[in-house]
Amino acid sequence: MTKVLIATDKPFAPAAVNAIREVVEGAGYELVLLESYTDKAELIAAVADVDGMIIRSDKATREVIEAAKNLKVIVRAGAGYDNIDLEACTEKGIVAMNTPGQNSNAVAELALGMMVFLARKGYNGQAGVELRGKNIGIHAYGNVGKHVANIAKGFGMTVYAFDPFVAKEAIEADGVKAVDTVEELYSTCHYVSLHIPANDKTKKSINYDLLNLMPEGGILVNTARKEVIDEEGMLKLMEDRKDFAYISDIAPDCKDEFAAKYEGRFFFTPKKMGAQTAEANINAGIAGANQIVNYIEKGDETFRVNK
Ligand code: 3PG
Repeated sequence: MTKVLIATDKPFAPAAVNAIREVVEGAGYELVLLESYTDKAELIAAVADVDGMIIRSDKATREVIEAAKNLKVIVRAGAGYDNIDLEACTEKGIVAMNTPGQNSNAVAELALGMMVFLARKGYNGQAGVELRGKNIGIHAYGNVGKHVANIAKGFGMTVYAFDPFVAKEAIEADGVKAVDTVEELYSTCHYVSLHIPANDKTKKSINYDLLNLMPEGGILVNTARKEVIDEEGMLKLMEDRKDFAYISDIAPDCKDEFAAKYEGRFFFTPKKMGAQTAEANINAGIAGANQIVNYIEKGDETFRVNK
């Protein structure tokens, strides 16, 4: 019998698991669940005989892919697929997919939520500041970036965006000011919200020089990936610019240094929470399950990410 594994170190909401089960069992397949595992060995054992699998930020390394002898399709229920060894998948003839857009509203809501939290000093009773009237820069105008722009407009913020892969006209049609360079985005905006993927070109690209362009009181909001930050440069900036703050859903490796030195100028969620809503889990989970069934039954490769 065709087997589909859900392997989630950070489990989906139970309603999402039920919804995935309906799709998978409805196709006549068996669903296997591995949640909250603590050891890579558990994942390696679980993949041994599955035909399809759904993961989140779980690391589908070469070792995992090679242990999955029957695997035909792996779906990352979410946007970023930097956690999958695409080369290993391609070598083994495995199709890798993501589910773009399915969890993006949840991530965008968290970005704005964290901004309010910091602006109101963690609700500590002291006077904070408002978001209204501030400039926000959307660094990469994809699914999440668009939602952030929309919500930010509701707060009365002025929204700018930089994305070399999206036509300026398309950005401006949304009532967002498109800028020509990344430098212009950072030098114009009090807040910059990151929505770039982590890849060879973007890793450590958010560096001292770029961040230092931000105006007085600049705040970087990261719901993307920690790898895109040059942490050495970030720490130097925190030291040189006492007005600068950093908010992230993916705590940096140097988080202890922030805790020791920069109280009130940072906020990090304890575990990546952006996509952790029932709605996002259900949307991304059902999409992932349907993509697996459609690939196995009909060879449908929509949303394939390894070419
Ligand atoms: C994504 O790339 O979709 C988000 O970062 C969400 O990741 P998660 O599923 O691990 O919460």
